Amino acid sequence: MSQRWIVLAVVLLVGVPSTLYARWIKDKVSLETKEVGSVEFSHFNHLEAIGKNCPACHNAIYHIVTKNNPDFTMKEMEQGKACGACHNGSRAFSVKENCDTCHGNGDVAYETDAGKATFSHKIHTAAFSCDACHPATFKAKKGGNKKASMEQMEKGASCGACHDGSTAFSVKDDNFCGKCHEM
Ligand code: HEC
Ligand code: HEC
Ligand code: HEC
Ligand code: HEC
Ligand code: HEC
Ligand code: HEC
Repeated sequence: MSQRWIVLAVVLLVGVPSTLYARWIKDKVSLETKEVGSVEFSHFNHLEAIGKNCPACHNAIYHIVTKNNPDFTMKEMEQGKACGACHNGSRAFSVKENCDTCHGNGDVAYETDAGKATFSHKIHTAAFSCDACHPATFKAKKGGNKKASMEQMEKGASCGACHDGSTAFSVKDDNFCGKCHEM
């Protein structure tokens, strides 16, 4: 084969299909939950991880017509449904851990008159499940909650639901302001 043909073959095998995909499929697809906000799924990252293999998911695991997909629970995923068909700890990282890799629940920074206050999901989810906070105390959506004042927290709103001096250190105690605020 001449070099030209080799180049063309490479373009056809690699270049053309991936640019076609890039043009007509959406990379990021959002899966909404009622309780814990939305989960972003990346087509491109998956096509890279498993090869350009649509039937690996469509339509056996996820129907391409999104309204045909039911809402799955984590329990069902742990039993091998939906994302759990691969995210089982052997083909890909497990749905039983790594919650933050899929759910995008990292640190949350609040700008306040008393300096930045930080909330860490990592620290809290070591002791609590998502439903200890979502959706009753906090909607799992950036900007989805009314600003709370310290006065409201002292009466049990927002962080004050637990930071009351019994479940966790109190929002009223002058010694602890600096645990949450960079003052
Ligand atoms: C690793 C699994 C996986 C692979 C592989 C995959 N998809 Fe998807 N696809 C999904 C998921 C998950 C959704 C969202 C389903 C939902 O919202 O209910 C989706 C949704 C879609 C949608 C609907 C998007 C929308 O917004 O309406 C199209 C179209 C689609 N995929 C095309 C493709 C094509 C074409 C390929 C191969 C190039 C492919 N997918 C490969 C998992 C996959
Ligand atoms: C591989 C990605 C992935 C991982 C890892 C993952 N989740 Fe999910 N989770 C999802 C997706 C996607 C949905 C939405 C499914 C749907 O609506 O069909 C969801 C839904 C949920 C829901 C709402 C439905 C339900 O089961 O009550 C909760 C709560 C939840 N996840 C918590 C967790 C926790 C806690 C962990 C870690 C132990 C975790 N998730 C790990 C992808 C993941
Ligand atoms: C056909 C198998 C398969 C299915 C189904 C699948 N994944 Fe994955 N996923 C993989 C593989 C393989 C990797 C890369 C290996 C790893 O990170 O363990 C990966 C990586 C990821 C990553 C890390 C890379 C990135 O995009 O940030 C996330 C997040 C993720 N998957 C979310 C999901 C969610 C959410 C679902 C369900 C809606 C899902 N996956 C369904 C196979 C799959
Ligand atoms: C101790 C309370 C608490 C627990 C437990 C908790 N969260 Fe959150 N979560 C918050 C707070 C506070 C926010 C910020 C809300 C805001 O910005 O107004 C938040 C925001 C979020 C957001 C939106 C992030 C953004 O930047 O848009 C997601 C997604 C989320 N949480 C998912 C989860 C998941 C999944 C779990 C369980 C694995 C969980 N959370 C457990 C308190 C909690
Ligand atoms: C569901 C109950 C709950 C809610 C709601 C909650 N926390 Fe906590 N938080 C705890 C518990 C329990 C601890 C650990 C016990 C302790 O240190 O007293 C803790 C510890 C902390 C710590 C110390 C972490 C460390 O480094 O030791 C900070 C900072 C913190 N929380 C900030 C916040 C902020 C900010 C909010 C509101 C956005 C919030 N928490 C909401 C229960 C909660
Ligand atoms: C458990 C964590 C936590 C502790 C402890 C805490 N704060 Fe806050 N504080 C926050 C968060 C989070 C906000 C932003 C809330 C929002 O925007 O919804 C805030 C907001 C504020 C604000 C602006 C709103 C207002 O009420 O005027 C001030 C000022 C403030 N804090 C001062 C303090 C002082 C002083 C202390 C100590 C007596 C303290 N905070 C203890 C987490 C905490």
